[in-house]
Amino acid sequence: MNDHQPIALPTTPSELVAQAEALLAGQTDRVANAANLSALLFHSLDDVNWAGFYFLQDGQLIVGPFQGKPACVHIPLGVGVCGTAADSREVQRVADVHAFEGHIACDAESRSEIVLPLVKNGELVGVLDIDSPLPDRFGAADQQLLERIAQIYLDSIL
Ligand code: SME
Repeated sequence: MNDHQPIALPTTPSELVAQAEALLAGQTDRVANAANLSALLFHSLDDVNWAGFYFLQDGQLIVGPFQGKPACVHIPLGVGVCGTAADSREVQRVADVHAFEGHIACDAESRSEIVLPLVKNGELVGVLDIDSPLPDRFGAADQQLLERIAQIYLDSIL
């Protein structure tokens, strides 16, 4: 995407996908692409208070680019929603974070959360984490959309 072109935020899922593709086109830097995707998701999705990335580093998750309040830096695999998604390599869609054993409360406002594992060529890269102040904010359609976005990210990085 032209670096000097302002973007109008997407209003539909297909616009969001198209914009994510355009934003990452020709860019392979995983930090740059995570930063731009975090901003795009945070400002495009309704009722979201945190959107961002954790990357696998030295056997644990470490916070990457995000939008929202400051977050915990290190998350061991298997701990919390993010650590569970990373360890199981399965999407965690949590309707009520207070009912999730081991949930790590970074922002006290968060009520529901979706975390997608990021796996490229069989290797765990990290996770994409989205939080909402509303209970049960993320449905099957949101999961499908975010899986698409996560794939766009994975396809973009080296
Ligand atoms: N709630 C997450 C921690 C990360 S923050 O939500 C940004 C968890 O339980 O893994």
